[in-house]
Amino acid sequence: MNPLAGASGGIPPVGRAVGGNPDRRRRASLPLAPYPPNRCSMTTPVPPVKLYEPVERPDLRWKYLRETYGDVAPAWFDPYARGWLLLSWESIRWAMQPASPFSADPDHWRDMREGLIPESSGTAVQLIRRQSARFRDGGEHARYRGALQDALQHLIDRNRVLDAVERVAYRLIAEFSRRRSDDLAAGYTYPRPVDLIGDYARRLTGTVLARLVGFTAAEADRIGTLMETVWDGEPHLAMQAWTQLAEDLAALAEQRARHPQDDVLSFLLHDRDRPAHTRAEAADQTALLFAAGYDPTTHLIGNCLRELLTDPRMGADLRSGLGDVRAVVNTVQVHRPPVAMLPGRWVTADHTIGHYRLRGGDLVGFGIAAANQSLAARELTSSTNAHLGWGTGGHGCPRAGQDIATVVAGAAVHCLFGAAPLRLAVPADALPDRPSMVINGLRELPVDLGEVHLPESRAALPEPAAVRPSGPAPAAATRSPSLGERLGGFARALLGRG
Ligand code: HEM
Repeated sequence: MNPLAGASGGIPPVGRAVGGNPDRRRRASLPLAPYPPNRCSMTTPVPPVKLYEPVERPDLRWKYLRETYGDVAPAWFDPYARGWLLLSWESIRWAMQPASPFSADPDHWRDMREGLIPESSGTAVQLIRRQSARFRDGGEHARYRGALQDALQHLIDRNRVLDAVERVAYRLIAEFSRRRSDDLAAGYTYPRPVDLIGDYARRLTGTVLARLVGFTAAEADRIGTLMETVWDGEPHLAMQAWTQLAEDLAALAEQRARHPQDDVLSFLLHDRDRPAHTRAEAADQTALLFAAGYDPTTHLIGNCLRELLTDPRMGADLRSGLGDVRAVVNTVQVHRPPVAMLPGRWVTADHTIGHYRLRGGDLVGFGIAAANQSLAARELTSSTNAHLGWGTGGHGCPRAGQDIATVVAGAAVHCLFGAAPLRLAVPADALPDRPSMVINGLRELPVDLGEVHLPESRAALPEPAAVRPSGPAPAAATRSPSLGERLGGFARALLGRG
């Protein structure tokens, strides 16, 4: 069976070119060359996969692609952006290593240089060459990545952000409890369901990232919505969302340059260990943190909760204390990774993978979910770290990013399952998937919540202050005690650093 609707190849129309160059526009109105232009010998030609088209069975998509194409598939990432999708664990690990013939710098993108990518390409919006770690190689990448790692680590230590996660989770659960009581008092037989994506996972992640970056929770919520639009790759809307996000961050960078606070933007603008970032660099790097952290962490939580609610044995083990939250997070990273597919490398030297000849300047994406499935088929256990959910190599998710996501997801699961009985409010097969080829998650996760029992010490805890002024400049050079020393007991136990 082919579970993919419309994976039939063909030449999609080309729209308006990016930028104002009339020559580019003229070229962009020409049809693209038939795809793939450089197929090596194959007995049965297989058409490129259109990754942006809805599929009948998303659960079978990656298996089907691996079985049909092997290590690599010719792919349309959207109606205008063609390239190659790596599908095996081995090919992705190899491509993510710094010595491989792939670059993270969008300047290599041949179709973009030749004016073949229109403004309405959602993929192009995600891959605009910003001044941030994700889009640079070599020394520039090392500077950007080093600064981000230091900023995150510094704030984790200093602000005790992770220590606060548990309190924020209990505050949200207390809100659900109040709403439930109000509904019952108003005469409803069944209180309204709680949406664990919008009302819980998203808000918990947003609050933590807002503290790190320097936004208020309301600002983070707005930026988070813009970010979702970018990840979903909606043509036009994605570009509008990025423009809005860039304007917000530029304004905040301007303010933090004059009045530093204890947040990532201020740290980058006043870095004492390396040349400080310009305002534009600091804004782009902060946008990267939001892009990299917000949706993936929200849906790591969502996918963990989905797993626990649809696998009664897993949920019961966790409640009884037999299950381990870390194992749940890891199982989800293997079997339902929130970042399922990620475009963002370019071929630097012609070479062959499987049946195909990749040419310099071709766009490449990583089929992370497909690669993990090929590992899982080898009886991978929930304790493995070999999955590619965090990426790997020089551009893999920084340690601090992984720690933040793991602690937020762990606390979300631990606090909710300990506080109230939960039941899906709709049949498991009616849960709506998020329409994104990058993010693997749900649009909503509605549950009926039973009576809430909060640990007494937690119910009355106030929310800690969002951002504390730090005096003249953040003390980047004065390192606080290590993460292990500063983390709260829960986070420390979760990360295994007790
Ligand atoms: C479940 C949550 C998360 C997942 C699944 C995830 C996954 C990933 C993956 C797969 C990459 C590699 C991208 C590539 O090779 O092109 C990456 C990079 C990155 N992640 Fe995460 N991430 C998560 C959370 C976070 C958080 C919370 C932060 C920070 C607040 C963060 C910061 C970053 C940064 C800065 C990069 C780019 C690193 C570079 O290019 O050098 N991530 N992440």
